[in-house]
Amino acid sequence: VTQQRGKVSVVGAGAVGTAISYACLLRGTAGHIALLDIDEAKVRAEVLDLNHGTQFVPACTVEGSADVAVTAGSDVVVVTAGAKQRPGQSRLDLAGANVAMARTVVPRLLEHSPQAVVVLVTNPVDVVTYAAIKVCGLSDGRVFGSGTVLDSSRLRFLLARHAGVAVGNVHAYVVGEHGDSELPLWSSATIGGVPLAAYPVDGRPLDAATRNAIAREVTDAAYEIIKGKGATSLAIGLATARIAEAVLRDERRVLPVSSLLRRWRGVDDVCLSLPSVVGRRGVERVLPTSLDAVELEGLRRSAEAVRSVARAVGV
Ligand SMILES: NC(=O)c1ccc[n+]([C@@H]2O[C@H](COP(=O)([O-])OP(=O)(O)OC[C@H]3O[C@@H](n4cnc5c(N)ncnc54)[C@H](O)[C@@H]3O)[C@@H](O)[C@H]2O)c1
Repeated sequence: VTQQRGKVSVVGAGAVGTAISYACLLRGTAGHIALLDIDEAKVRAEVLDLNHGTQFVPACTVEGSADVAVTAGSDVVVVTAGAKQRPGQSRLDLAGANVAMARTVVPRLLEHSPQAVVVLVTNPVDVVTYAAIKVCGLSDGRVFGSGTVLDSSRLRFLLARHAGVAVGNVHAYVVGEHGDSELPLWSSATIGGVPLAAYPVDGRPLDAATRNAIAREVTDAAYEIIKGKGATSLAIGLATARIAEAVLRDERRVLPVSSLLRRWRGVDDVCLSLPSVVGRRGVERVLPTSLDAVELEGLRRSAEAVRSVARAVGV
């Protein structure tokens, strides 16, 4: 049974990697979970803690190590390893260290799991994903980033709360960089099949001020959470488990993940998030989502923002 449900490896047993493993365990995402971290005591402790709960969840074996061999034969490898922003450290410093990590770690992971799909979560995720794709020479969608799946779920949560409907009935995407230059696609957002622009709440459709406030809340969410609890973890854990399931079960689910764009409405050779079909081979197709003129301009600006960080760290 466990083999049928596949193997997920999670690299980095910090706040994010542990939350992803826990979400996978609860959801029955995989039959086997492996954790890899350079901190041996930490990875051992997390594996013990997860294993002690296996009586209460769908059958799953959990192991962990500081040796990359623990990840061998994975179907999906999720990378969360790397530095978090520390006091006095710039975003560029973070990018440099984490790009270097991805360049050494991802090829070694693929050596041990030649069939795996690799999902990067480490920030800045679009730049780290681009660096990993280039170093492996795999531009066919097998290596991609978690992108704005989390940001889109934040948007859907806020719209659902505003409209008083279930979050599953809101369809709306945040696209572009996973970061400050991201943008919500208002023009294609719908609630229960009704275009958002025509969806009345208290007799009025969503006005520009409310839209802007919601967009700001989505972009600023991470800052508020990091201020209060040190790291965002639980929602990215669930989002990443969902991405892993789309791959393992070959669901061909539409998710706004970050992949290498090729001449997408004039945006080329940069990793950004757009609604994409995710299945057993990774990102199988980037959808021809319709953007209005303002949104297209926003996406191009976002591409420039990601490129300038990449350039600054020599990617
Ligand atoms: N993409 C997203 O939506 C999203 C959301 C939240 C956090 N993140 C990012 O995820 C990353 C991890 O965040 P966190 O809060 O878990 O940090 P953390 O410091 O709690 O954990 C990072 C772990 O990585 C390990 N590590 C470092 N280098 C390693 C290597 N070469 N091999 C194996 N393990 C290694 C460390 O020992 C540590 O346990 C950060 O870059 C963060 O910005 C991304």
